Amino acid sequence: MRLIIINGPNLNLLGVREPDIYGRESFEDFFAALQVDFPTLTLHYFQSNHEGDLIDKLHEVGFSYDGIVLNAGAYTHTSVALADAIAAIRTPVVEVHISNVHAREAYRHHSYLSAQCVGVIVGLGLKGYELAIEYFRTA
Ligand code: DQA
Repeated sequence: MRLIIINGPNLNLLGVREPDIYGRESFEDFFAALQVDFPTLTLHYFQSNHEGDLIDKLHEVGFSYDGIVLNAGAYTHTSVALADAIAAIRTPVVEVHISNVHAREAYRHHSYLSAQCVGVIVGLGLKGYELAIEYFRTA
């Protein structure tokens, strides 16, 4: 089974960026541990700060991979283009947010992406990525 985690803008700074909200672990360390935890899965990871690159990656993997775990960062709340990309591909997408966006600023309460995703995991920290992978593993 081939899965990919796609992270959007500013998520390259996990561990450093606002640690009280996003935690102190870098995504690289977390991802290395995930690969150990799921030895039977082929796990890939992609991060970009650029909307078009995220769309290109969705197109690239979205007809051959078994699942996509997507944290689009702030583009979640702004990007019709990303929503269209998710709608256009065949691979199911689980939307993940590290923080509880519903307990934060009002502009974070709406996601353009959720309606195109198979499900949404919000506010459970990095554990949300693990739960999304577990979903695909057992779906
Ligand atoms: C985030 C929540 C977004 O509102 C924010 O812009 C992010 C991270 C999260 O994982 O909690 O960059 O997607």
